Amino acid sequence: MSENLTLTIAQPDDWHVHFRQGAIMAQVVPHTAARFARAMVMPNLSPPIVTVAQARNYRAEIMATLPADAKFNPLMSLYLTDHTTRQQVTEAAAAQHIVGYKLYPAASTTNSARGVTRVSNIMPVLEGMAEHRLVLQVHAEVSDPEVDIFDREAVFIEQILAPLHREIPDLKIIVEHVTTAQGVQFVQQTGDQVAATITAHHLMFNRNEMFRGGLRPHAYCLPVLKRESHRLALRKAAASGSRAFFAGTDSAPHTRQSKQRDYGCAGIYSAHAAMELYVEVFESMQALEKLEGFASHHGADFYGLARNAGKLTLQKKPWRAPPSYRFGRQHEIIPLCAGQPIAWSIAGRDC
Ligand code: NCD
Ligand code: ZN
Repeated sequence: MSENLTLTIAQPDDWHVHFRQGAIMAQVVPHTAARFARAMVMPNLSPPIVTVAQARNYRAEIMATLPADAKFNPLMSLYLTDHTTRQQVTEAAAAQHIVGYKLYPAASTTNSARGVTRVSNIMPVLEGMAEHRLVLQVHAEVSDPEVDIFDREAVFIEQILAPLHREIPDLKIIVEHVTTAQGVQFVQQTGDQVAATITAHHLMFNRNEMFRGGLRPHAYCLPVLKRESHRLALRKAAASGSRAFFAGTDSAPHTRQSKQRDYGCAGIYSAHAAMELYVEVFESMQALEKLEGFASHHGADFYGLARNAGKLTLQKKPWRAPPSYRFGRQHEIIPLCAGQPIAWSIAGRDC
């Protein structure tokens, strides 16, 4: 009877996604909009989205990839730099659709060159964000090349994030795409001003996936997949029902060419099957009843936004992810689980 199993939940939101621009954006946005009511759009374009006007234009470009009657609401994040001012924070807080600032430690990941070099340099800006209840979304990894890549999240939390939280306890902080037991523990032990997003791929795979049968660039993302004990800590947190953990896919499309080369880009594309994969993970944890909180409630509650009124129905009906999505003249994206069967499908939406 399992093929008839269905699950209806409040329409979910993706609290961390990369849409890029141009032809690749036109390819990926419909995948997210078919599953999620809202998405928190990351600002790490080249050049990055640093002003309210840039965010407004970018949001209009995103909407233009969808039919005019599409019910999808992109929420925007601005990119923090060493030069962000308190005045800009005040303007951002007043702008419709802007709900947070993304902190990329300089040189930590894709398009982070203009990120923050020292958090201590931007304390007045962070205090302004706390006053205005803007959320700080953190790429929580040190970029020091001397630090082992598998330790960069734990070191950042201990050396930078924990002291920052003690200094500005009212600032709402999200540890984006948390990947370690230390990250989970920090969120659990800190009050309700701190939360974390969790990707589907960090719930599904440990670091062996990058080396299974050979070196696999499409399994490489940042923060990098970690060892099994960390994956188990993430799964426990997601299935716990704690309001501090919610879905953020970190779907990060790159062309096949830019991943399959020396110095290949970090990022896993998962928007084509994001909810289908989350539901499969929750089923494997025997925690299907916890999916709705994780995917549809906790994030909206943390951001202080209304929960979605619509519904999404998932069905245990297998389909096969395509080996690639072709776009433009000669480009393609290799998605997560390319060419593989996926156990659940989207059965319907009522929004
Ligand atoms: C992201 C990207 O490609 O923009 N890459 C990734 O591996 N997740 C950036 C990021 O979120 O680190
Ligand atoms: Zn990301």
